[in-house]
Amino acid sequence: MERQMLRGDLEKLRKSGKLLICDKEVDPKFELGAVLKHFRNKKPILFNNIRGSNVSIIGGLFGDRNIFYHMLGTNHEKRIFKFMHAITNPKGTKLIKDGPIKENIITRNIDISKTFPIPTFHENDSSSFITAGIVIIKDPETGKRYTSIRRLQVNGKDNLSILIASPMFTNQLKELKEKKKDMEVAVILGYDYSFLLASQISSELYGVDKYEVDSALREEPLELVKCHTIDLEVPAHGEIVFEGIIPHNREVEEGPFGELMGYYGKVANHPVIEVKAIMFRNNPIFQVSFPCREEHLSNGLIREVELYTHVRKFAKVKDVNVTIGGGCRFHGIVSIEKKEEGDGKGVILGALGSNKDLKHVIVVDDDIDIFNKDDMEGALATRVQGSRDLVIINGAQGSGLDPSHNMRGITDKIGIDATKPLGENGVKFNKAIIPGYEKIDIEKYFPNLKE
Ligand SMILES: Cc1cc2nc3c(=O)[nH]c(=O)nc-3n(C[C@H](O)[C@H](O)[C@H](O)COP(=O)(O)O)c2cc1C
Repeated sequence: MERQMLRGDLEKLRKSGKLLICDKEVDPKFELGAVLKHFRNKKPILFNNIRGSNVSIIGGLFGDRNIFYHMLGTNHEKRIFKFMHAITNPKGTKLIKDGPIKENIITRNIDISKTFPIPTFHENDSSSFITAGIVIIKDPETGKRYTSIRRLQVNGKDNLSILIASPMFTNQLKELKEKKKDMEVAVILGYDYSFLLASQISSELYGVDKYEVDSALREEPLELVKCHTIDLEVPAHGEIVFEGIIPHNREVEEGPFGELMGYYGKVANHPVIEVKAIMFRNNPIFQVSFPCREEHLSNGLIREVELYTHVRKFAKVKDVNVTIGGGCRFHGIVSIEKKEEGDGKGVILGALGSNKDLKHVIVVDDDIDIFNKDDMEGALATRVQGSRDLVIINGAQGSGLDPSHNMRGITDKIGIDATKPLGENGVKFNKAIIPGYEKIDIEKYFPNLKE
């Protein structure tokens, strides 16, 4: 069994009963997205019968936190420390001569849409989009390799538009443009949980080679092969690689496209990728991410590392949640073991400074389950007084994906301190408990119960 990239993970998912197989014909235009959306992207589905194509599609891999933990060999309590350890202790990769990705190489008469079934997701989307492509670029000075997902609009047979919202990537492009030089890029499809997670760390914040973070996460060197036409390496066990250049002198109109919060983003000119070669393994599986909040969970898991790192300077932190409802970026919840009055407000300051996209943060005590919406609502209902517990910051830098500020990127931020007071004043917040509740064995009373 292959260990690295999609094939290895598919086998693991299949064995643990987590993979759905769809053999019924599915249209990549709208129908495929509708099926994925039905499961809120929390069920990995292999579509084996795609209308107009003999290539299978995998989707819904990355929307469930527990599947992520299972596939990465971790659990909820340990996950932040495992990810942090990989970021701060990157490990070397292994370059090999050949790999399954090189089984087929096309350099002439490239026609992306004819070779692969590229879905269209929403009614007003401008074209079909490659939504799960992990783009790899290399820093020409340090040689560090930076990966990230960027959506790719199909413009023609061998041409894609690329949407880049990243200071590091944009700056590199700008520098090359000034020198009238093109940028070499490769797009990888058919990767696994480790490779995706490593791609989501901020290049700007950590400045670390993401292939090496991936090697640390998977606890073995990531196996790479050289690209066919450009000076980049790609995973040997991937499914599909598009190689090409971003020319310094060409942009094309991109969008509209139904984005992560369910709105259409604005139409604008964006750089393009001219595809020079396609490598793919025999019987390749095309990978998709339905553009929705759940699919950004990998990004949220990494933002939780950032949030945790920033707030633990201010209080004893129990857990953090960068919620799916908030697009895995706008909302943060922090639970703390409150030791001093002021801990809650300190955590608000740390959280709002952790990432410009974080717009609302709620701080609660450690008796609240921050992954349980009812528990959270209870804390807001009973432990908050607006005049005392709200912090409002006016007109700060925010996310361009939030339409409530007319896409100008300037937004108000709110912190809510929903912690109870310490000492005598906190006694009335003690929760009523049933002695022995934690230890109750429900199967003793209902032996045939299936939850
Ligand atoms: C499913 C998914 C889709 C994404 N789409 C885009 C995109 O179209 N453009 C973009 O700039 N970032 C997108 N992102 C976020 C980036 O991949 C992420 O912020 C990046 O890897 C961080 O690296 P950077 O610091 O080099 O930007 C997406 C993330 C996910 C999980």
